[in-house]
Amino acid sequence: MPRSKGRAASLFDALAVEEVAVEPSEPDPKLQGLQVAAAAKAAADEVRLVKRFPKIEKPEGFDHEDGIKSRARVQSIGEVLTGEREVNAMLDLVDDTVRRPGSRVLEPACGNGNFLVEILRRKLAMVAAEATTPEAFEFGAITALTGTYGIDITLENVLEARERLQMLVVDAYSTRKNTWKPNNGFYDSVQYVLGTNIILGDSWKGAHKVVFIEYTSPFPDKFFQRFFTLAELERPSRRLPKPHRTIGATHYLELRDVD
Ligand SMILES: C[S@@+](CC[C@H](N)C(=O)[O-])C[C@H]1O[C@@H](n2cnc3c(N)ncnc32)[C@H](O)[C@@H]1O
Repeated sequence: MPRSKGRAASLFDALAVEEVAVEPSEPDPKLQGLQVAAAAKAAADEVRLVKRFPKIEKPEGFDHEDGIKSRARVQSIGEVLTGEREVNAMLDLVDDTVRRPGSRVLEPACGNGNFLVEILRRKLAMVAAEATTPEAFEFGAITALTGTYGIDITLENVLEARERLQMLVVDAYSTRKNTWKPNNGFYDSVQYVLGTNIILGDSWKGAHKVVFIEYTSPFPDKFFQRFFTLAELERPSRRLPKPHRTIGATHYLELRDVD
């Protein structure tokens, strides 16, 4: 079928119309102006968006964008970890309490420690700001740890939370007080307190089996220890029962397991 240039010869080859050469025309200054204005508006929108939703850095050890490590863990243990923005927003509501190195905080389903890490970070910031000697920093850091408690039903989470908390102490010591050297025994005491305070357990059905130590420090640099079950600590009565065990005044550099 004969075809005329630039026009479809039939309905069926309408798409096969030959290209018609188009002469380049001068750019339309009106169109150019509109394009520049549109690009400027898009850039301004982007800036507004970034300001409203600032980029959130992942907390240490938080490698799961949506807080989910696996579907199986969500189904079996209800594990959905909380992101840094939510953790900070919630802790900001009780900041005066949690930042005090001597405050006591329990996370009964602590996961890998997202709340505990931020709580300890705030406490250590206070300790580092006020300490003028390595000993003052160390005693303050141990005090901060003794009031930071966590329970999780998954061993992997307990170990990860302890590790992250220890790394915070190491970082606070080395980055803020980088000319100071830790005293012998300091990190052994850190590990002892992490071992007594961040523990494997069932905080829902096993509170009578979970044992926590109440640390108190009536004398400088020393701690007393009294052992209670979580069930006892949860009783509404103001008076604590007789402790299952006590350990007398112990120097902060000498906190260890004793038989
Ligand atoms: C929703 S996640 C929250 C973890 C953490 N609180 C956070 O916000 O990132 C729930 C956690 O509770 C733990 N868990 C579930 N049942 C528990 C129980 N009965 N006792 C203690 N921990 C439990 C799971 O292992 C899991 O780590």
